Amino acid sequence: MSNKFYLTTPIYYVNDKPHLGHAYTTIAADVLARYHRLKKEEVFFLTGTDEHGTKIIEAAEKANKKPKEFCDQISQEFKKTWQNLNISYDYFIRTTDKKHQKTVEKILLKLEKKGVIYKSKYKGLYCSGCEKFLKRKELIDNLCIFHQKEPKEISEENYFFSLKEYLPQLKKIIEKNKIKILPPERKAEVLGLFKQKIGNFSISREKVEWGIKIPWDKSQTVYVWVDALINYLSGIEYSENSKFDRYWPVDLHLIGKDILKFHTIYWPAMLLALDLELPRQIFVHGYFTVDDQKMSKSLGNVVDPNDLIRKFGIDATRYLILSQFPFGADGDISLKRLAEKYNADLANGLGNLLNRFLGIREKCKIKRINLSKRNERKRTKLQKKYEKAFQNFQLYEALLIIWDRISYFNKYIDKKAPWILIREKKLDKLEEILYNIHIGLKEIVFLLKPFMPQTAEEIEKNLKKKIKRKRVLFSRINSF
Ligand code: MSP
Repeated sequence: MSNKFYLTTPIYYVNDKPHLGHAYTTIAADVLARYHRLKKEEVFFLTGTDEHGTKIIEAAEKANKKPKEFCDQISQEFKKTWQNLNISYDYFIRTTDKKHQKTVEKILLKLEKKGVIYKSKYKGLYCSGCEKFLKRKELIDNLCIFHQKEPKEISEENYFFSLKEYLPQLKKIIEKNKIKILPPERKAEVLGLFKQKIGNFSISREKVEWGIKIPWDKSQTVYVWVDALINYLSGIEYSENSKFDRYWPVDLHLIGKDILKFHTIYWPAMLLALDLELPRQIFVHGYFTVDDQKMSKSLGNVVDPNDLIRKFGIDATRYLILSQFPFGADGDISLKRLAEKYNADLANGLGNLLNRFLGIREKCKIKRINLSKRNERKRTKLQKKYEKAFQNFQLYEALLIIWDRISYFNKYIDKKAPWILIREKKLDKLEEILYNIHIGLKEIVFLLKPFMPQTAEEIEKNLKKKIKRKRVLFSRINSF
């Protein structure tokens, strides 16, 4: 049986439509899923929507809709956007699904039976934007730094999970890379968290109606983060059929840096308590700003990925998003730069290479298969570099490797000036040059597949067929 690869994105809050931040994680996950499928691994790629809690009730109220009706609508927008971006997820989970709710109940009962849940009074400052309690020292001018909102003081009697019991064991697990946290500076950050005081965390809410009821106490609902994390179990039908046996444990959780603590501490501790295998890897990517500003509704700079698709097309959008800055680092995205990059890398780079190749090929037939040894060696070195980049989740670097090759062949055409050979009827030489570009393009296509699947397919078709008229790929566009 082939290897399996169980890959997840966070499930996204449905308080608002999908934006470029969500698309960033999802496109990256899709590239990884496609890469592993090409390696003949049995991939299960899970994504979905997080639909309970205060934040969602507030948004539904604002929209004058019932929570479920509101969730149905926004969840559908996520699905549509992922379809528009050609995201090849295997399952889309919603936390309002009956099946998920059943799993959450089952998990909570297990934890309760294990004796790691207790009831206690809690008082704290709750930010509905973050859906978590904040410490006073985390606020600036009494406001949450992420949501510019004053958190509400909440005093409740809640159920708690005895997180502290698992901390020493978990610290060792992370130190020894049994859960591999990447990039390394994020692992250091997590280990740093263990030096601070980490308390037990509450797993229920008394006054949040919109949620899954605690099975043994219907006056409380499950804390939205506990509900959400369990999606990684219910998404593969936990303990119900062979899907769970086949795919568990998670091979890769792909997350943004804002939700590090939930995934690297709370979630693994819950799994330890449940005697379930831990995730193998957690990759934490950075955050981007748009034109050097945080993306926010109040600034009016929230980018809808669908607008980019309309402007650039699907594959170009996928390419442009991942080619801005290294995956894992923070960076900035500017719409003006996206358009410039489109023209430079896609119209003048990849598009130009293919169009020139097809133009010349029209004039001569490829017969010979006569690759020089030097070329062959280069290819294997190139593929190794690409593989290594993928192993380290360096998607940006993998793209650089491909574009290096594209620019090599564009320069090769300039240098060899095949149009002169055509004029002088030096067809033997011409065939050799064309053959080299043909092989180069085939390799480029292969490396492009996870990133730009439709483009790769189209180029492949063009390489196979003797197309009469040139196919123009990525014609130049104007800036925004
Ligand atoms: N619902 C929780 C996750 C639960 S997972 C069990 C949540 N949802 S979210 O809708 O807020 O989406 C968060 C994810 O979107 C972050 O992890 C992050 O990956 C991504 N991003 C949101 N804005 C972003 C940027 N500006 N830049 C990069 N990624 C961003 O948290």
